[in-house]
Formats: sequence, C-alpha cells, structure tokens
Amino acid sequence: MSSITIPILNERTLRIPALKAATHEPHDTRGRRIRDLRISVTDRCNFRCTYCMPKEVFDHDYAFLPHDELLTFEEITRIAKISVGLGVEKIRLTGGEPLLRKGIENLIAMLGEIPGIDLTLTTNGSALKTKAKALKAAGLQRITVSLDSLDDATFRKMNDVDFPVAKVLEAIDAAADAELTPVKINMVVKRGVNDHDVVAMAKRFKGSGHIVRFIEFMDVGATNGWRMDDVIPSAEIVKKISEVLPLEIADAQYTGEVAERWKYVDGSGEIGVISSVTEAFCGTCTRARLSTDGSLFTCLFAQKGYDLKSLLRGGKNDEDIRDAIAAIWQHRSDNYSEIRTAETAGDANARKVEMSFIGG
Ligand code: GTP
Ligand code: 5AD
Ligand code: SF4
Ligand code: SF4
Repeated sequence: MSSITIPILNERTLRIPALKAATHEPHDTRGRRIRDLRISVTDRCNFRCTYCMPKEVFDHDYAFLPHDELLTFEEITRIAKISVGLGVEKIRLTGGEPLLRKGIENLIAMLGEIPGIDLTLTTNGSALKTKAKALKAAGLQRITVSLDSLDDATFRKMNDVDFPVAKVLEAIDAAADAELTPVKINMVVKRGVNDHDVVAMAKRFKGSGHIVRFIEFMDVGATNGWRMDDVIPSAEIVKKISEVLPLEIADAQYTGEVAERWKYVDGSGEIGVISSVTEAFCGTCTRARLSTDGSLFTCLFAQKGYDLKSLLRGGKNDEDIRDAIAAIWQHRSDNYSEIRTAETAGDANARKVEMSFIGG
C-alpha cells in the first residue's frame, strides 16, 4: 500500500497509509466530504473576548506567532486552490481578527479568482467601517460580524478592551452599504453575562435583512473556563424570542448548515441558532481548518494538526499536497461535540488548540 508522510504539529512525523486512491472528493471515515475551508490569517486580535482570548492568558504567557511562521498569501491561495479541487465550495477567512492582517484585500483578490466558491469572512467589526468598500471591491461576497450585546457596558465588558458598541453598529451599516450581504451577526450567549440582551438583539435587526445567529458558548481551546452552567440552550433562546416575536422553523439552505434557521411568522426575516453543545452537528460536518501557521485541523476541538507548511516549503508539488490533504481527510473520524462531557471539556491533559489560532 502506498503511504504519505505528513509531519504533525508538536509531534513526531506520522506516516499515514493512503487508504484509497486520492479521489476527486475524498470521504472521511464517517462518510463526510470536505466542503468548507476556514482559514485563520492571523492569531492576533485587538479584542480580548472573555470566551475566546481571555486577557489573563493572552496578555501574559501566550506566545503569538512570529511573522515568518505565517503562511504567505501565495501559500494560502495554493492550499485553497488545491482544496477546491478536492470538493471545497466555501472559504471563510477568520483569525484572530482577519482585518488586522496587512494587505488582506490582496489575499481576497487572489482567492476571488478561484471560480465557483463562496468567499466570506468573520470579523469583530472594529476596522470594518473603513475597509468594507475595499473588501467588496476585492471580491469578498458577504460578511459575518461578531456582536455580543447592544448594551454598551455589557459589550465593553465582554470584549474586555473597552471597545464601544456604537462603532460595531456603524461597521454593520457600512458592510450593508457596501453590499457585503446578507450580513450575519454572531452573538455568543453566556448565562448571566449577556443573555438579558437576546430579545433586544432580535428586535434591533428584525426587518433589517441582517441575520442574527445566537451561539451556544463552547469549550473551545483550553483557557476560557467553560462550564455547562454558563450555556444557554438554543431551545431556550428560540422560546424567549418567540414569546415576543413569533418564530417558525425554516428549512436548512444546504445539508450540514451549522445554524438552525427560524423565520419570523410575519415575514420580516430570520434568525439562526447554533447549538454545538446541546444538539451537536458533527454528523454532517464538512469543515477543515487551516491554522495561521499552515497546519490542517479536521476539528475545531482538535489537539493536533497536520503540518502542510513544511510540505509547501519543502518543495512538494500540487499533486503531493493534494494527496496529503486527501489522506488526512480520509483518516478523519472527529465528532467531538457528540462525545463532549464535563471531563473532556475540562481535561487539562487534552490541551485543545485555541480558536484564535485555527479559526472560528
Ligand atoms: P454561513 O456560511 O454564513 O452559514 O456560516 P457558518 O454557518 O459556517 O457559520 P459561522 O462561520 O459564522 O460560524 C458561526 C459559529 O458557529 C462559529 O463562530 C462557531 O462558534 C460555530 N461553529 C462553526 N463551525 C463549527 C464547527 O465545525 N463545530 C462547532 N462545534 N462549532 C462551529
Ligand atoms: N463559543 C462559541 N463561539 C465562539 N467563538 C469564539 N469563541 C467561542 C466560544 N467559546 C466564535 C464566535 C465569534 C467567532 C469569531 O468565534 O462566533 O463570533
Ligand atoms: Fe477576537 Fe473574535 Fe476571539 Fe473576540 S471572538 S477575541 S473578536 S477572535
Ligand atoms: Fe465538526 Fe468537530 Fe465541530 Fe463536530 S465538533 S461539528 S467534528 S468541527
């Protein structure tokens, strides 16, 4: 049997046998294909959201990557093109905060030349107002903005850098003006922190054409102090909103859609709920993640990734890299959210990589 050698981050090289010939569209061990590539373009962020990059850790003993460890735009584009050849249809740029990466418009323009892909980006909105038009002109199709509260004091407390909510709201308007639509708005809901703002958030964006998605607080990474008690189940959120603004379930737009869609009964738009904790969606998970330094992760909760950068910089040709990605995918068996327990979430020995490094 042929085999391929892929270095694994922080571990010895692993030789994995190619299970089947690298097919055009590889399936993993659970029959899932590869459809989405989420690319973290920087591990840095100017926010310190308590659920993602808590100050106590990220302002002290956290080692951010030096610049030469980052994949270049050419390297990112090369992986993206190869992945599209294996079935990827959607590319999302993430971080950290992707708009902090210098020249991000140039990367978007390079990726925008790949035919037939859905190209989008997730941002905290802090630099979006000035960049929205340039991003659209470069080829970005739509955008997702994180916004955890409309209440200024709560928002400042959650981003933990005293960033005012008004600026993010202006950025959302700028994104809509630039036709980066539909604009999606991600709100991570934490019990006792911002759950009082759920209905206000729904009201504010109802009828605007923007889609608010309420996300269950997750145990990503190893530093955010996750506890099940802090999670508000999506069912509770739908009930709370529906009592004031009646909702009805809507069909998914595609198989494996992360958010469950709910429409306002009066036809004025929709919201989404993302229930990774209470209703895992691993069964249809088609997402691969490329870390800032060029490792491929097959799950958001992975502890290790496959070092594609050393293949890129080691002179491998596109076919070698395609075979490597296909082999990694064919070995994939991840279903973390289906098997999560309080023990796995808090297991200090199973140090999961941080979300800012592999991309939300
Ligand atoms: P659209 O393409 O706009 O539908 O976006 P999406 O559904 O891929 O959602 P988005 O990228 O905005 O993800 C929203 C949030 O869902 C993320 O920030 C994560 O919190 C969570 N999420 C996304 N993908 C996964 C995943 O593969 N596993 C888990 N557990 N959570 C995920
Ligand atoms: N739980 C859920 N979502 C998270 N994100 C970051 N950390 C978490 C977490 N602990 C997501 C949010 C944010 C995006 C950048 O990452 O959706 O909008
Ligand atoms: Fe930055 Fe987004 Fe993480 Fe907040 S959630 S710290 S904005 S990467
Ligand atoms: Fe996919 Fe892992 Fe998220 Fe499950 S937990 S949906 S396998 S990324």
